[in-house]
Amino acid sequence: MTVKKIAVIPGDGIGLEVTKEAVKVLKKVADDHGMQLELEEHPVGGTAYDLTGTPLPDETLQACKNADAVLLGAVGGTKWESLDFSVRPERALLGLRSELGLYANLRPAQIYGDLVDASTLKREVVEGADIMVVRELTGGIYFGEPRGIETRNGERVGVNSLIYSESEIRRIAKIGFEIAQKRSKKLTSVDKANVLETTELWREIVTEVAKDYQDVSLNHMYVDNATMQLIRAPKQFDTIVTTNMFGDILSDGAAMLTGSIGMLPSASIGGQIGLYEPVHGSAPDIAGKDLANPLATILSVGMMLRYSFNLIEADEAIQKAVIAVLDEYRTGDIMSEGKKQVGCIEMGDRVLEHL
Ligand code: IPM
Ligand code: MG
Repeated sequence: MTVKKIAVIPGDGIGLEVTKEAVKVLKKVADDHGMQLELEEHPVGGTAYDLTGTPLPDETLQACKNADAVLLGAVGGTKWESLDFSVRPERALLGLRSELGLYANLRPAQIYGDLVDASTLKREVVEGADIMVVRELTGGIYFGEPRGIETRNGERVGVNSLIYSESEIRRIAKIGFEIAQKRSKKLTSVDKANVLETTELWREIVTEVAKDYQDVSLNHMYVDNATMQLIRAPKQFDTIVTTNMFGDILSDGAAMLTGSIGMLPSASIGGQIGLYEPVHGSAPDIAGKDLANPLATILSVGMMLRYSFNLIEADEAIQKAVIAVLDEYRTGDIMSEGKKQVGCIEMGDRVLEHL
Protein backbone atom coordinates (compact mmCIF):
# COMPACT_ATOMS: atom_id res chain seq x y z
CA MET A 1 0.00 0.00 0.00
CA THR A 2 1.36 3.44 -0.84
CA VAL A 3 1.62 5.82 2.09
CA LYS A 4 1.17 9.52 1.48
CA LYS A 5 2.05 12.13 4.01
CA ILE A 6 -0.32 15.11 3.96
CA ALA A 7 0.38 18.30 5.87
CA VAL A 8 -2.94 19.85 6.85
CA ILE A 9 -2.70 23.54 7.70
CA PRO A 10 -6.22 24.80 8.45
CA GLY A 11 -5.16 28.38 9.21
CA ASP A 12 -7.78 30.84 10.44
CA GLY A 13 -11.52 31.51 10.45
CA ILE A 14 -13.57 29.14 8.33
CA GLY A 15 -10.29 27.48 7.27
CA LEU A 16 -10.65 25.34 10.39
CA GLU A 17 -14.14 24.18 9.47
CA VAL A 18 -13.72 23.59 5.76
CA THR A 19 -10.49 21.60 6.08
CA LYS A 20 -12.20 19.25 8.56
CA GLU A 21 -14.83 18.38 5.97
CA ALA A 22 -12.25 18.05 3.20
CA VAL A 23 -10.14 15.70 5.32
CA LYS A 24 -13.19 13.46 5.86
CA VAL A 25 -13.57 13.22 2.09
CA LEU A 26 -9.84 12.70 1.55
CA LYS A 27 -9.80 9.78 4.01
CA LYS A 28 -12.72 8.08 2.32
CA VAL A 29 -11.38 8.48 -1.21
CA ALA A 30 -7.87 7.41 -0.19
CA ASP A 31 -9.38 4.30 1.36
CA ASP A 32 -11.31 3.55 -1.83
CA HIS A 33 -8.09 3.85 -3.86
CA GLY A 34 -5.80 1.79 -1.66
CA MET A 35 -3.85 4.82 -0.50
CA GLN A 36 -2.71 5.02 3.10
CA LEU A 37 -2.64 8.48 4.62
CA GLU A 38 -0.43 10.01 7.23
CA LEU A 39 -2.06 13.27 8.26
CA GLU A 40 -0.24 15.93 10.23
CA GLU A 41 -1.83 19.18 11.34
CA HIS A 42 0.13 22.41 11.81
CA PRO A 43 -0.75 26.03 12.57
CA VAL A 44 -0.40 28.78 9.99
CA GLY A 45 -1.54 32.39 9.62
CA GLY A 46 -2.98 34.36 12.52
CA THR A 47 -3.44 31.21 14.59
CA ALA A 48 0.26 30.50 14.24
CA TYR A 49 1.11 34.11 15.05
CA ASP A 50 -0.86 33.89 18.31
CA LEU A 51 0.96 30.69 19.24
CA THR A 52 4.49 31.50 18.11
CA GLY A 53 4.75 35.14 17.08
CA THR A 54 5.13 34.33 13.40
CA PRO A 55 2.49 33.41 10.77
CA LEU A 56 4.70 30.75 9.20
CA PRO A 57 6.60 28.92 11.94
CA ASP A 58 9.66 26.92 10.86
CA GLU A 59 8.05 23.75 12.10
CA THR A 60 5.04 24.25 9.83
CA LEU A 61 7.25 25.06 6.85
CA GLN A 62 9.44 22.01 7.46
CA ALA A 63 6.39 19.78 7.85
CA CYS A 64 5.11 21.04 4.48
CA LYS A 65 8.48 20.44 2.85
CA ASN A 66 8.55 16.89 4.21
CA ALA A 67 5.01 16.08 3.09
CA ASP A 68 3.81 14.64 -0.21
CA ALA A 69 1.14 17.34 -0.47
CA VAL A 70 -0.25 20.22 1.56
CA LEU A 71 -3.90 21.05 2.25
CA LEU A 72 -4.47 24.64 3.35
CA GLY A 73 -7.71 26.22 4.62
CA ALA A 74 -7.48 30.01 4.71
CA VAL A 75 -5.52 32.67 6.54
CA GLY A 76 -6.32 36.13 7.88
CA GLY A 77 -8.91 37.86 9.99
CA THR A 78 -9.89 41.21 11.47
CA LYS A 79 -8.02 40.34 14.64
CA TRP A 80 -4.65 40.49 12.86
CA GLU A 81 -5.28 43.34 10.41
CA SER A 82 -3.36 45.94 12.37
CA LEU A 83 -0.23 43.79 12.77
CA ASP A 84 3.00 44.86 11.15
CA PHE A 85 3.07 43.92 7.45
CA SER A 86 5.88 41.41 7.99
CA VAL A 87 3.87 39.22 10.37
CA ARG A 88 0.41 39.48 8.81
CA PRO A 89 -1.25 36.11 8.23
CA GLU A 90 -1.15 36.65 4.43
CA ARG A 91 2.65 36.65 4.55
CA ALA A 92 2.49 32.95 5.46
CA LEU A 93 0.72 32.18 2.22
CA LEU A 94 3.26 34.10 0.15
CA GLY A 95 6.11 32.52 2.12
CA LEU A 96 4.80 29.02 1.51
CA ARG A 97 4.32 29.60 -2.21
CA SER A 98 7.81 30.97 -2.54
CA GLU A 99 9.57 28.46 -0.26
CA LEU A 100 7.90 25.51 -1.94
CA GLY A 101 8.60 26.90 -5.43
CA LEU A 102 4.92 26.82 -6.38
CA TYR A 103 5.07 29.02 -9.44
CA ALA A 104 1.85 27.81 -11.08
CA ASN A 105 -1.58 28.29 -9.58
CA LEU A 106 -4.47 26.50 -11.25
CA ARG A 107 -7.92 27.89 -10.56
CA PRO A 108 -10.73 26.14 -12.40
CA ALA A 109 -14.03 27.98 -12.60
CA GLN A 110 -16.83 25.78 -13.76
CA ILE A 111 -20.54 25.64 -13.10
CA TYR A 112 -21.45 22.56 -11.12
CA GLY A 113 -24.82 21.05 -11.97
CA ASP A 114 -27.76 23.41 -11.76
CA LEU A 115 -25.78 25.89 -9.71
CA VAL A 116 -26.23 28.15 -12.70
CA ASP A 117 -29.17 29.64 -10.76
CA ALA A 118 -26.78 30.89 -8.09
CA SER A 119 -24.86 33.06 -10.56
CA THR A 120 -25.63 36.75 -10.69
CA LEU A 121 -25.35 36.53 -14.48
CA LYS A 122 -28.03 35.29 -16.87
CA ARG A 123 -28.31 31.55 -17.39
CA GLU A 124 -27.55 31.76 -21.13
CA VAL A 125 -24.35 33.70 -20.42
CA VAL A 126 -22.83 31.29 -17.89
CA GLU A 127 -24.38 27.89 -18.57
CA GLY A 128 -21.63 25.57 -19.74
CA ALA A 129 -18.78 27.99 -18.93
CA ASP A 130 -15.64 26.11 -17.93
CA ILE A 131 -12.48 28.14 -17.48
CA MET A 132 -9.06 27.29 -16.08
CA VAL A 133 -7.07 30.26 -14.85
CA VAL A 134 -3.33 29.52 -14.75
CA ARG A 135 -1.85 32.21 -12.53
CA GLU A 136 1.89 32.80 -12.11
CA LEU A 137 2.43 32.59 -8.35
CA THR A 138 5.98 33.29 -7.23
CA GLY A 139 6.95 36.35 -9.23
CA GLY A 140 5.70 39.64 -10.60
CA ILE A 141 4.66 42.58 -8.46
CA TYR A 142 3.95 40.34 -5.45
CA PHE A 143 7.64 39.59 -5.01
CA GLY A 144 9.53 42.21 -7.05
CA GLU A 145 12.25 44.34 -5.45
CA PRO A 146 12.63 47.17 -4.64
CA ARG A 147 9.51 47.42 -2.56
CA GLY A 148 8.39 49.29 0.51
CA ILE A 149 7.29 52.66 1.78
CA GLU A 150 9.97 55.35 1.83
CA THR A 151 10.29 59.12 1.94
CA ARG A 152 11.01 61.07 -1.23
CA ASN A 153 10.98 64.87 -1.41
CA GLY A 154 9.50 65.14 2.05
CA GLU A 155 6.57 62.82 1.53
CA ARG A 156 6.03 59.07 1.77
CA VAL A 157 5.85 57.04 -1.41
CA GLY A 158 4.89 53.41 -1.84
CA VAL A 159 7.03 51.30 -4.18
CA ASN A 160 6.42 47.90 -5.75
CA SER A 161 8.16 46.40 -8.76
CA LEU A 162 6.64 44.38 -11.56
CA ILE A 163 9.48 42.11 -12.67
CA TYR A 164 9.47 38.94 -14.76
CA SER A 165 12.46 37.16 -16.19
CA GLU A 166 12.27 35.26 -19.47
CA SER A 167 12.66 31.95 -17.66
CA GLU A 168 9.84 32.75 -15.25
CA ILE A 169 7.54 33.61 -18.16
CA ARG A 170 8.60 30.56 -20.17
CA ARG A 171 7.90 28.04 -17.41
CA ILE A 172 4.43 29.36 -16.61
CA ALA A 173 3.61 29.63 -20.33
CA LYS A 174 4.54 25.95 -20.74
CA ILE A 175 2.16 25.00 -17.94
CA GLY A 176 -0.54 27.08 -19.63
CA PHE A 177 -0.05 25.28 -22.94
CA GLU A 178 0.12 21.85 -21.32
CA ILE A 179 -3.13 22.44 -19.43
CA ALA A 180 -4.78 23.80 -22.59
CA GLN A 181 -3.65 20.70 -24.49
CA LYS A 182 -5.59 18.52 -22.05
CA ARG A 183 -8.65 20.74 -22.33
CA SER A 184 -10.06 22.29 -25.50
CA LYS A 185 -6.68 23.44 -26.89
CA LYS A 186 -7.39 27.13 -26.58
CA LEU A 187 -5.13 29.41 -24.56
CA THR A 188 -5.63 33.11 -23.82
CA SER A 189 -2.62 34.97 -22.46
CA VAL A 190 -3.64 38.05 -20.50
CA ASP A 191 -1.25 41.01 -20.20
CA LYS A 192 -1.05 44.78 -20.39
CA ALA A 193 1.50 44.87 -23.19
CA ASN A 194 0.24 48.23 -24.46
CA VAL A 195 1.48 49.96 -21.30
CA LEU A 196 3.84 47.74 -19.27
CA GLU A 197 7.20 46.65 -20.69
CA THR A 198 7.28 43.65 -18.37
CA THR A 199 4.19 42.29 -20.04
CA GLU A 200 5.45 43.25 -23.48
CA LEU A 201 8.21 40.73 -22.74
CA TRP A 202 5.55 38.38 -21.37
CA ARG A 203 3.70 38.48 -24.69
CA GLU A 204 6.88 37.96 -26.69
CA ILE A 205 7.94 34.89 -24.69
CA VAL A 206 4.47 33.33 -24.65
CA THR A 207 4.35 33.70 -28.45
CA GLU A 208 7.75 32.03 -28.68
CA VAL A 209 6.69 29.10 -26.46
CA ALA A 210 3.59 28.65 -28.64
CA LYS A 211 5.79 27.29 -31.44
CA ASP A 212 6.24 24.10 -29.38
CA TYR A 213 2.48 23.69 -29.02
CA GLN A 214 1.17 23.91 -32.57
CA ASP A 215 -2.05 22.10 -31.63
CA VAL A 216 -3.06 24.86 -29.20
CA SER A 217 -4.56 28.07 -30.54
CA LEU A 218 -3.19 31.09 -28.69
CA ASN A 219 -4.65 34.57 -28.42
CA HIS A 220 -3.51 37.58 -26.39
CA MET A 221 -5.80 39.92 -24.51
CA TYR A 222 -5.23 43.06 -22.48
CA VAL A 223 -6.33 42.64 -18.90
CA ASP A 224 -8.97 45.37 -19.01
CA ASN A 225 -10.60 43.83 -22.04
CA ALA A 226 -10.27 40.33 -20.53
CA THR A 227 -12.17 41.49 -17.44
CA MET A 228 -14.96 42.82 -19.61
CA GLN A 229 -15.05 39.70 -21.81
CA LEU A 230 -15.13 37.42 -18.76
CA ILE A 231 -18.42 38.97 -17.72
CA ARG A 232 -19.80 39.64 -21.20
CA ALA A 233 -19.13 36.27 -22.79
CA PRO A 234 -17.26 33.87 -20.49
CA LYS A 235 -17.72 30.88 -22.78
CA GLN A 236 -15.15 32.28 -25.22
CA PHE A 237 -12.44 31.31 -22.68
CA ASP A 238 -10.95 27.92 -22.02
CA THR A 239 -7.50 28.25 -20.45
CA ILE A 240 -6.16 31.63 -19.34
CA VAL A 241 -2.49 32.17 -18.47
CA THR A 242 -1.50 35.38 -16.73
CA THR A 243 0.69 37.18 -14.21
CA ASN A 244 0.45 36.91 -10.45
CA MET A 245 -1.63 40.03 -9.84
CA PHE A 246 -3.82 39.82 -12.94
CA GLY A 247 -4.48 36.18 -12.03
CA ASP A 248 -5.45 37.16 -8.50
CA ILE A 249 -8.02 39.60 -9.81
CA LEU A 250 -9.33 37.59 -12.77
CA SER A 251 -9.77 34.42 -10.72
CA ASP A 252 -12.06 36.16 -8.24
CA GLY A 253 -14.06 37.43 -11.20
CA ALA A 254 -14.18 33.99 -12.77
CA ALA A 255 -15.24 32.52 -9.43
CA MET A 256 -18.36 34.66 -9.31
CA LEU A 257 -19.51 33.33 -12.67
CA THR A 258 -19.99 30.03 -10.89
CA GLY A 259 -22.32 31.46 -8.28
CA SER A 260 -20.02 31.66 -5.29
CA ILE A 261 -16.37 31.96 -4.51
CA GLY A 262 -17.18 29.19 -2.03
CA MET A 263 -17.06 26.77 -4.95
CA LEU A 264 -13.59 27.47 -6.32
CA PRO A 265 -10.71 25.09 -5.57
CA SER A 266 -7.08 25.66 -6.44
CA ALA A 267 -3.83 23.81 -6.92
CA SER A 268 -0.40 25.39 -6.61
CA ILE A 269 2.22 23.34 -8.39
CA GLY A 270 5.64 23.57 -9.98
CA GLY A 271 7.75 22.48 -7.01
CA GLN A 272 8.32 19.07 -5.45
CA ILE A 273 5.15 19.29 -3.38
CA GLY A 274 1.75 20.61 -4.38
CA LEU A 275 -0.35 22.88 -2.20
CA TYR A 276 -4.12 22.76 -2.42
CA GLU A 277 -6.50 25.36 -1.05
CA PRO A 278 -9.87 26.99 -1.66
CA VAL A 279 -9.70 30.34 -3.45
CA HIS A 280 -11.90 31.98 -0.81
CA GLY A 281 -10.54 33.57 2.35
CA SER A 282 -11.09 33.04 6.06
CA ALA A 283 -14.50 34.82 6.19
CA PRO A 284 -14.28 35.93 9.84
CA ASP A 285 -17.91 37.12 9.74
CA ILE A 286 -19.25 33.56 9.47
CA ALA A 287 -16.40 31.66 11.15
CA GLY A 288 -17.28 29.15 13.86
CA LYS A 289 -20.99 29.18 13.01
CA ASP A 290 -21.13 26.07 10.82
CA LEU A 291 -22.21 28.27 7.89
CA ALA A 292 -19.22 27.96 5.58
CA ASN A 293 -19.32 26.17 2.24
CA PRO A 294 -16.74 23.36 2.36
CA LEU A 295 -17.08 22.44 -1.33
CA ALA A 296 -14.13 24.52 -2.58
CA THR A 297 -11.83 22.73 -0.13
CA ILE A 298 -13.37 19.34 -0.92
CA LEU A 299 -12.79 20.03 -4.62
CA SER A 300 -9.23 21.08 -3.75
CA VAL A 301 -8.69 17.60 -2.31
CA GLY A 302 -9.84 16.34 -5.71
CA MET A 303 -7.17 18.48 -7.36
CA MET A 304 -4.59 17.07 -4.93
CA LEU A 305 -5.49 13.53 -5.91
CA ARG A 306 -5.27 14.46 -9.59
CA TYR A 307 -2.14 16.60 -9.69
CA SER A 308 -0.02 15.19 -6.87
CA PHE A 309 -1.03 11.52 -6.99
CA ASN A 310 -2.29 11.13 -10.54
CA LEU A 311 -5.60 9.68 -9.30
CA ILE A 312 -7.76 11.27 -11.95
CA GLU A 313 -10.75 8.97 -11.29
CA ALA A 314 -10.66 9.98 -7.65
CA ASP A 315 -10.96 13.65 -8.60
CA GLU A 316 -13.77 12.79 -10.98
CA ALA A 317 -15.56 10.83 -8.25
CA ILE A 318 -15.42 13.83 -5.92
CA GLN A 319 -16.70 16.20 -8.60
CA LYS A 320 -19.55 13.83 -9.37
CA ALA A 321 -20.47 13.56 -5.70
CA VAL A 322 -20.47 17.36 -5.38
CA ILE A 323 -22.76 17.75 -8.38
CA ALA A 324 -25.14 15.11 -7.00
CA VAL A 325 -25.28 16.75 -3.58
CA LEU A 326 -25.95 20.20 -5.04
CA ASP A 327 -29.07 18.81 -6.63
CA GLU A 328 -30.66 18.72 -3.18
CA TYR A 329 -28.51 20.52 -0.65
CA ARG A 330 -27.00 23.98 -0.47
CA THR A 331 -25.03 26.06 1.98
CA GLY A 332 -26.26 29.63 2.54
CA ASP A 333 -23.96 31.23 -0.05
CA ILE A 334 -25.46 29.17 -2.90
CA MET A 335 -28.96 28.63 -1.54
CA SER A 336 -31.80 28.71 -4.02
CA GLU A 337 -35.48 27.96 -3.93
CA GLY A 338 -36.55 24.35 -3.55
CA LYS A 339 -33.21 23.22 -2.09
CA LYS A 340 -32.51 22.27 1.49
CA GLN A 341 -30.14 24.56 3.35
CA VAL A 342 -27.42 22.81 5.33
CA GLY A 343 -24.36 23.82 7.31
CA CYS A 344 -20.70 23.09 6.70
CA ILE A 345 -20.62 19.77 8.54
CA GLU A 346 -23.75 18.37 6.97
CA MET A 347 -22.53 19.41 3.52
CA GLY A 348 -19.37 17.38 4.15
CA ASP A 349 -21.43 14.40 5.28
CA ARG A 350 -23.65 14.58 2.20
CA VAL A 351 -20.64 14.50 -0.10
CA LEU A 352 -19.32 11.46 1.79
CA GLU A 353 -22.65 9.73 1.30
CA HIS A 354 -22.38 10.13 -2.46
CA LEU A 355 -18.88 8.71 -2.73
C1 IPM B 1 -5.39 34.60 -3.19
C2 IPM B 1 -5.40 35.63 -2.11
C3 IPM B 1 -3.96 35.93 -1.72
C4 IPM B 1 -3.27 36.51 -2.93
C5 IPM B 1 -3.78 36.86 -0.51
C6 IPM B 1 -4.56 36.39 0.69
C7 IPM B 1 -2.32 37.01 -0.17
O1 IPM B 1 -6.09 36.76 -2.50
O2 IPM B 1 -4.86 33.50 -2.97
O3 IPM B 1 -5.93 34.88 -4.26
O4 IPM B 1 -3.38 37.70 -3.22
O5 IPM B 1 -2.60 35.75 -3.63
MG1 MG C 1 -7.10 36.54 -4.38
